[in-house]
Amino acid sequence: MIKKTVLSGVQPTGDLHLGNYLGAIKNFAKMQNENECLFCIVDLHAITVFQKSEELRNNTYEVTAAYLASGIDPKKSVIFNQSQVSGHAELAWVLNCVCRMGWLNRMTQFKEKSGKNSENVSSGLFTYPTLMAADILLYKATHVPVGSDQKQHLELTRDIAQKFNNDYESQDFFPLPEPYIEKEISRVMSLRDGTSKMSKSDISDYSRINLIDDKDTIIKKIKKSKTADTPVPSSIETISDMPEVNNLFNIFSGVTSMSKNEIISIYEGQNFSNFKNDLSDALIEKIAPIGIEIKKLMNDKKYLNQVLQEGKEKARKKSELVLKDVYDIVGFVK
Ligand code: TYM
Repeated sequence: MIKKTVLSGVQPTGDLHLGNYLGAIKNFAKMQNENECLFCIVDLHAITVFQKSEELRNNTYEVTAAYLASGIDPKKSVIFNQSQVSGHAELAWVLNCVCRMGWLNRMTQFKEKSGKNSENVSSGLFTYPTLMAADILLYKATHVPVGSDQKQHLELTRDIAQKFNNDYESQDFFPLPEPYIEKEISRVMSLRDGTSKMSKSDISDYSRINLIDDKDTIIKKIKKSKTADTPVPSSIETISDMPEVNNLFNIFSGVTSMSKNEIISIYEGQNFSNFKNDLSDALIEKIAPIGIEIKKLMNDKKYLNQVLQEGKEKARKKSELVLKDVYDIVGFVK
């Protein structure tokens, strides 16, 4: 059986939260046993919005630590930092020349991030998705585990791959990568507003559970999370119409692997406090040990550097072969 090649990345732009974990990182560790896996810390993407250099460096180590603490094993997966493998930036340039302006103009994440300020954001933010396509295609990755907010970028990656293959008459050179998105938990919402995504940039820390939150903080945040004045409903349909409650059910299911129906059968008709107590316990069991491990690893920069060095070597070796073929296909003189 041919192994799949899996690649994904996380931006080092601040504390990671439950959305990053359930939507993406949790699946990374699951996939590493059967596939060839590469997981990067995408620092080149991070600077599309200005980052203070000390914070960027620290956050890069923190994502590395979070990968390790979540069970990604550097013996099975390649863990590396994007800027340390120059092929990402090189392939991104080639793909910038393949990708159409009209395609980038349709990217909803750019519209959301630039808002009314689109004339004054960096041009890197606009071409962000072609760099992401380069991350994936540089290793001819076939599967990309992400949250649903990245789906459109994955579709663009497929369009870019297809156009490159067509323009250069190199059929099947780049595979068309498939997103790997777990439906229920692919968009974890804010604990304060079930219609907006859990995000690092939300000004309220009570909107999210951070991976480094301790036990007491998790309890406080879940206690304060928005629910309803009614008892816990008895059907999935009713829950689906209650965004905040639905989100807590998804989270509960994501951290325990109980189905939503199983959770309903335990709590229906009760007030939300029992549900919240048990949800806190489940989160503490699953998330708090990751936070403790992240903090421990952050005190061992020597080990983190060693992981990144080894990852860099492996990623470079693999990427150089593909980049060489791309340069040949494009017609660059060797
Ligand atoms: P980033 O750093 O914003 O997020 C990292 C991963 O976490 C997922 N995610 C969520 N999932 C569920 N619910 C949420 N509330 C939530 N918030 C974030 C994201 O979907 C993502 O999978 N562009 C990417 C980074 C990237 C990348 C790549 C990903 C760069 N190159 C190549 C895959 C392949 C991003 O901004 O992720």
